[in-house]
Amino acid sequence: MNRPKGTKDIYGQDQIVKKHIEEIVKTIALLNNFEEIETPIFESSNVFKKSVGETSDIVSKEMYLFNDKKGREMVLRPEGTAGAIRAIVENKLFSKQLPLKLFYYGPMFRYERPQKGRQRQFTQFGIEMISNKSPYIDAEVILFASSILESLNIKNKLIINSLGDSVTRKNYSKALKKYFSKYKSELSDDSVKRIEKNPLRILDDKIDGKKSFVINAPKISEFYSKETNEYFLKLSSFLKKMGINFEIDHKLVRGLDYYADTSFEFVSTSGKAGSQSTLIGGGRYDNLISQFGGPELSGIGFAIGIERIMNELDYNEIIDSNKKVVEIFVINLSDASLETSLGIVHMLRRAGYIVEWNGKTVKLQKGFATSDKFGSKINIIIGEKEIKNGNVVIKDKVEQKLVKINEIIDYIDAKLGE
Ligand code: HAM
Repeated sequence: MNRPKGTKDIYGQDQIVKKHIEEIVKTIALLNNFEEIETPIFESSNVFKKSVGETSDIVSKEMYLFNDKKGREMVLRPEGTAGAIRAIVENKLFSKQLPLKLFYYGPMFRYERPQKGRQRQFTQFGIEMISNKSPYIDAEVILFASSILESLNIKNKLIINSLGDSVTRKNYSKALKKYFSKYKSELSDDSVKRIEKNPLRILDDKIDGKKSFVINAPKISEFYSKETNEYFLKLSSFLKKMGINFEIDHKLVRGLDYYADTSFEFVSTSGKAGSQSTLIGGGRYDNLISQFGGPELSGIGFAIGIERIMNELDYNEIIDSNKKVVEIFVINLSDASLETSLGIVHMLRRAGYIVEWNGKTVKLQKGFATSDKFGSKINIIIGEKEIKNGNVVIKDKVEQKLVKINEIIDYIDAKLGE
């Protein structure tokens, strides 16, 4: 039996690197004063239909849908924002003090065509910040995202756009409807349906989005309201002041319906990514909380694809600094001392040391050989004679000493410098 297509078993070096990234993103989140939230891995399908949008690729083509035993339509979450907002509204988390700053980390599922950097099960670290709406808050969130890539030393480029206020999007949508109506015969059936429902989603359709007439479609910037222009200008000039390099791309519409005003992506420029080079995607949303039955509050967030980050990193360096080595090896020389040996292994593990043993009675040379394989610094040797006298032999590279059983921890603490 094999694992499902588009999934990975993560073990060994991959596991060490993945854990390292998790630690870094969570530490930076805590420094930014975000709190962790966990939401279910499956949700009612409406959670995503309502928010990510029925005409998006994610909802219309990529959801892992199933009916539970009562016939309710469920979905393995394809992203983290909708579940987080559902939880915020359901638990009235907004009623405490704002800003509300939450982060999440876990698996997401999309039925996409697997390729380098694109899996059907992948891991996201994401944040959502519910607060006052301002270009400076947008900048704060972008700086947070940027600091993650900086601390991981990943070469990247920031791309920003504004999807405008509701007036902008209404006028843009009207113009796109008119434009795409001329190309009906060249669009897929799905996209033809989108002309009336949500023409913006044609722009990021995985197939139609690459066609030249779609690439050359009118740009949203041509329809910016005065307010949108001012907001976007403030954001971009502040980012410049902060020394953040970025490009403006008015074609960056992102594949999810909930965005309004600022949207952004950080793309890898290391040359290590394939065609799936977007490391971080995010943006502001205005109506999401009210759509879930909450008050009119605006929010902004982003998510990082952890596997795409793994692909960017130099494994050797991380593994060297995160490698766990066996510190103490216990060599048991007689069946009579087996129980004492295992008792000592357990005692040392409880004291916080990484300890191994053969799990049986062995000859001294065999014990040393296994200990060497583990790279252990200290050997504890226990045989019949030792337990009779209540001692063990502790041997390291420098010396060999008889130590009373109840003094082992003190001796090891002194040796390994606690
Ligand atoms: P997204 O752009 O759909 O945004 O995904 C964010 C990141 O998840 C991508 O930039 C990529 O690194 C990773 N990712 C997405 N799909 C895959 C895949 N099939 N395989 C591997 N990695 C993938 C969101 O999900 C939004 N919820 C982000 C957000 C939070 N916006 C506001 N708040």
